[in-house]
Amino acid sequence: MKTLKISMQFLLLFAVLFLSVQCKGKAEKEGTKQTENAMKSQKASLAISQEDFGKLPTGESIQKYTMTNANGMVVSVINYGGIITHLEVPDKKGKIEDVVLGFDSLEGYLTPAPYFGALIGRYGNRIADGKFSLDGTQYTLAQNDGQNHLHGGNKGFDKVVWEITKITNAESIALQLHYLSEDMEEGYPGNLNTTVTYTLTNDNTLKVKYEATTDKKTVVNLTQHSYFNLSGDFSKGILDHEISINADTFLPVDETLIPTGEFKEVAGTPFDFKQAKTIGKQINEDTEQLKRGLGYDHCWVLNSEAQGLSLAATAYDPESGRYMEVLTTEPGIQFYSGNFLDGTLKSKSGGTYAKRSGFCLETQHYPDSPNQEDFPSVVLNPDETYISETIFKFSVK
Ligand code: GLA
Repeated sequence: MKTLKISMQFLLLFAVLFLSVQCKGKAEKEGTKQTENAMKSQKASLAISQEDFGKLPTGESIQKYTMTNANGMVVSVINYGGIITHLEVPDKKGKIEDVVLGFDSLEGYLTPAPYFGALIGRYGNRIADGKFSLDGTQYTLAQNDGQNHLHGGNKGFDKVVWEITKITNAESIALQLHYLSEDMEEGYPGNLNTTVTYTLTNDNTLKVKYEATTDKKTVVNLTQHSYFNLSGDFSKGILDHEISINADTFLPVDETLIPTGEFKEVAGTPFDFKQAKTIGKQINEDTEQLKRGLGYDHCWVLNSEAQGLSLAATAYDPESGRYMEVLTTEPGIQFYSGNFLDGTLKSKSGGTYAKRSGFCLETQHYPDSPNQEDFPSVVLNPDETYISETIFKFSVK
């Protein structure tokens, strides 16, 4: 009897042990399954698609590449001008809307448009009188902005066809754009081999990395010319957006918007954005600099605390709650309040783009640097690689 009791106890213990091992195995399997599923959905949620976006007058086909992340953030880029045509992000209620000005079809970008969403090169911003010298040789560029040269000339990087490669990694997706700008194209010396990579991650960050090499001494200053309206409603102006710029000084300009060479303290001027304030707060103040720019159209000298990426500016639309941080490796940022928009261009949502319906935060070296010795150099030598990085990070508050 006693032996039977003991063996029953053993049997029970054995059964309990067996069952618990079984359950543990099942749970572990479930766990692995869940991780696998999560990885699968992470991969599935980071996706790149491609579609036709029309044809250039030359017959060349233009493609639109769309990157999507797990939160439904969308970034569409076309191989014409490397233009960001759509950038959709959630508002504080989770509503996903487009926050960049642009057009729904290629035609919009072929009629003279103010660089909506485009890559700008070889030189973002102005070069006085379209002239600069390197080692005693003078180079002459197009004077396409009054007497000055603007945004790379008549056919800058915003109007060329880029070669696009899709890149898919575990944690990010990217579009790598390549363009070889030939020696003396638009008057600039050297074959400039240029790569721009747009990378999207699941933390709603869009990174833009610019790289270039040359075979002759030249000047380079690349940037991205997206016009933002964080409200997601292009019929609304941007004067209620709150902007901050991490800069103690800015570069005052002459009547033709070329920097005078002075580094002016922002303190006590409408150019002080060290504490966030609305764009509209002081934009109409009666000051010479605001009159010259028809509003804000100036370069701020960034307080870069460290080497590498540092916070340059923020933008916030209180109504939608959308918040954008701009980080860069560049020493300057051109804040342009969309002063030249005049209601003639048709918007994606049906209306038109009115004055100040979008603003730009263009990270860059200072305007006219090739002619201003006190500005950081924009010279690129054959043994060097130009590298510049900017991050646009979206969230809500
Ligand atoms: C830049 C310039 C502006 C204007 C726009 C495009 O932001 O600084 O003056 O040329 O591009 O219209």
